[in-house]
Amino acid sequence: MTLVSFSALFLSVILQTALLWSIGSSQTTGFTSIDCGSASASVYTDEDGIQWSSDSKLMSEGTSVVLSDTNVPHVLSTMRLFNGSQSKYCYNLSNSDLKAEDFFLVRATMFPGIDPPYSPRNPDGSFRFRMILDADQWWDAKVRYEDSTTWTYDAYVRAKRSNIDVCFARISPDGDAPFISALELRPLPKTLTSTTFMNALDVFLVCLGHANVGVPQSGPSYVRFPDDTLDRYWTSYKAPDSNLNSTQETINLSTDSLDQIPEKILQDSLTGSPGITITLTALQADALHYAQFYFSEIDSSVNSSGMRVFNIFANGELANMTDGPIDVFASVGANAAYSYRLPVMSNATGGIDFTFTPLANSTFPASLAALELFELRQITSLTPSPILTAVEAIKTALGLGSYTGDPCLPVGHGYDWLNCSSNNTGITAISLSNYETNGSIPAELNDLTTVTEVRMNGNNLKGEIPDLSALELLETLDLSNNNLNGSIPSYLASLKSLKALYLQNNNLSGTIPTALLQRRQASSLTFEFSGM
Ligand SMILES: *[C@@H]1O[C@H](CO)[C@@H](O)[C@H](O)[C@H]1NC(C)=O
Ligand SMILES: *[C@@H]1O[C@H](CO)[C@@H](O)[C@H](O)[C@H]1NC(C)=O
Ligand SMILES: *[C@@H]1O[C@H](CO)[C@@H](O)[C@H](O)[C@H]1NC(C)=O
Ligand SMILES: *[C@@H]1O[C@H](CO)[C@@H](O)[C@H](O)[C@H]1NC(C)=O
Ligand SMILES: *[C@@H]1O[C@H](CO)[C@@H](O)[C@H](O)[C@H]1NC(C)=O
Ligand SMILES: *[C@@H]1O[C@H](CO)[C@@H](O)[C@H](O)[C@H]1NC(C)=O
Ligand SMILES: *[C@@H]1O[C@H](CO)[C@@H](O)[C@H](O)[C@H]1NC(C)=O
Ligand SMILES: *[C@@H]1O[C@H](CO)[C@@H](O)[C@H](O)[C@H]1NC(C)=O
Ligand SMILES: *[C@@H]1O[C@H](CO)[C@@H](O)[C@H](O)[C@H]1NC(C)=O
Ligand SMILES: *[C@@H]1O[C@H](CO)[C@@H](O)[C@H](O)[C@H]1NC(C)=O
Ligand SMILES: *[C@@H]1O[C@H](CO)[C@@H](O)[C@H](O)[C@H]1NC(C)=O
Ligand SMILES: *[C@@H]1O[C@H](CO)[C@@H](O)[C@H](O)[C@H]1NC(C)=O
Repeated sequence: MTLVSFSALFLSVILQTALLWSIGSSQTTGFTSIDCGSASASVYTDEDGIQWSSDSKLMSEGTSVVLSDTNVPHVLSTMRLFNGSQSKYCYNLSNSDLKAEDFFLVRATMFPGIDPPYSPRNPDGSFRFRMILDADQWWDAKVRYEDSTTWTYDAYVRAKRSNIDVCFARISPDGDAPFISALELRPLPKTLTSTTFMNALDVFLVCLGHANVGVPQSGPSYVRFPDDTLDRYWTSYKAPDSNLNSTQETINLSTDSLDQIPEKILQDSLTGSPGITITLTALQADALHYAQFYFSEIDSSVNSSGMRVFNIFANGELANMTDGPIDVFASVGANAAYSYRLPVMSNATGGIDFTFTPLANSTFPASLAALELFELRQITSLTPSPILTAVEAIKTALGLGSYTGDPCLPVGHGYDWLNCSSNNTGITAISLSNYETNGSIPAELNDLTTVTEVRMNGNNLKGEIPDLSALELLETLDLSNNNLNGSIPSYLASLKSLKALYLQNNNLSGTIPTALLQRRQASSLTFEFSGM
């Protein structure tokens, strides 16, 4: 058996040289490549023709950190560190081509350098922080340092609108502060088997790796753009000569064109002795995964059907192969692309193993050129857009623009100054007491018809109290200790649910609506207005 083990390392790319980003030629349109933490004027084209720009126009939060490492690629020499206390920090990513329903690859890269800006909380020497895509948790990054590893995380997502929020968060309030070195967005065709699959199941895919197996010792440590026109990042897993086949022959890619696999990847294969076992660990436990295997028959000694025939077992169970065991030559002939894919559950300890076992009468061992593994994740809808619009208006009016991403989701990473209903159909409370905000209360507050509590006391709010007559569930309204002017609106008395109204210490004028005083008298309303 040829044994190949992948663990959490499956996700990472070892930084071998300063040439990490050096494959490539000219930039493809639709690529968005962001160098996080770099100087604001910084727009440059690297040696590969990929055009990078600073994140300064996209992100005003966090601190830019310049690493002390020398000899690292330009894009890794800076990072943005989010050491504040917000529940998340989001990049609003888009490009001119991006539309709702389009698919794309999102890639986040972290390089902590030899002298990171802070030490991880956990004594094992790894930073841990959370990555979020729109309303969903993407992955909790675990970034080791002091070994020059560059960590890359990929996901395949379908846009819900003309942009996507890619966010970074502490896992818990006292957890490690997140940081990010580079962010990339790459369009994906909707004809890929993986994107078709996503569409059918309404999921997004967390990429756990694109592995190029059976690479000679002298081969490259990875393959990406322009060899891969989609700029997937294929990590090389090298094999001894006794376990690999290589060819310089052209591979017929049209026999399996849907996945647009780079030819280079199919020109080397791992060969078994006679089987191949691939073990994956440190995955999400009991989770649905999707594997894609790529083959090509590049050994010229295999020149007829039945010479190299093998079965695939996933966690010991024979995969349901509708066309029988894999016989690449019989299916597509020599030097031609062939693939096979299957859904598979990880086991209770987060493991999956794949075994490629030749049939007893197969002359040649099993063989594999590449594999990809994805975890399937259900897509959560964003907070409904009328709510988003009203929240945006409040942010603008009250100078709260540093709060980014979805206000409610994912659960636990909403804005700290509002509460949302558990089914996320509305905002239930606004809690901006003593928030050092100013500006005036926007009319759009009246669109948040599910609020029961609005507390904006102890700020520097100016202007008049707007029409809030649609807030029929409102129980508490605290606008005390501000600089509000104008009169006390009479509709307040007709808010049926209102139990407490605090307007004291403002610059309000005019008469107090009698109905309010009557409700106060009848003890159905707590109403403070001293120094109004
Ligand atoms: C964040 O990190 C920067 C750079 O290390 C530091 O100057 C700043 O004080 C930190 N801010 C917080 C809130 O810890
Ligand atoms: C995000 O970016 C898109 C496209 O540039 C823009 O239309 C949208 O208003 C932005 N969203 C927020 C919340 O800033
Ligand atoms: C293919 O690999 C096997 C070892 O697994 C080796 O014996 C054979 O010569 C190789 N064939 C070619 C064409 O490289
Ligand atoms: C590649 O495969 C396709 C589909 O099987 C076939 O039609 C075509 O002739 C092949 N091309 C070459 C150069 O062999
Ligand atoms: C396959 O190769 C062997 C050895 O080179 C040769 O004897 C045989 O005729 C070939 N078979 C076919 C179908 O080409
Ligand atoms: C090899 O064995 C399988 C069953 O194990 C059989 O279906 C197949 O025909 C055999 N192939 C040859 C070339 O004898
Ligand atoms: C294979 O198919 C059977 C019946 O359709 C199903 O019960 C089983 O779970 C499938 N196995 C795999 C690995 O998909
Ligand atoms: C899960 O799979 C891994 C990898 O194959 C294996 O080491 C582990 O023992 C399995 N755990 C269980 C509970 O079966
Ligand atoms: C808002 O949610 C927090 C956390 O669940 C809770 O402690 C607080 O009481 C809620 N506030 C209101 C006004 O519902
Ligand atoms: C959402 O929850 C609220 C109460 O929290 C309920 O009134 C409303 O009907 C629910 N909406 C849906 C669509 O389930
Ligand atoms: C709000 O306060 C900030 C800082 O305290 C100040 O820079 C800004 O001008 C104020 N805005 C208004 C509208 O008063
Ligand atoms: C309230 O104050 C604003 C300035 O903050 C002013 O423009 C407006 O005329 C005032 N309204 C009343 C009724 O005094």
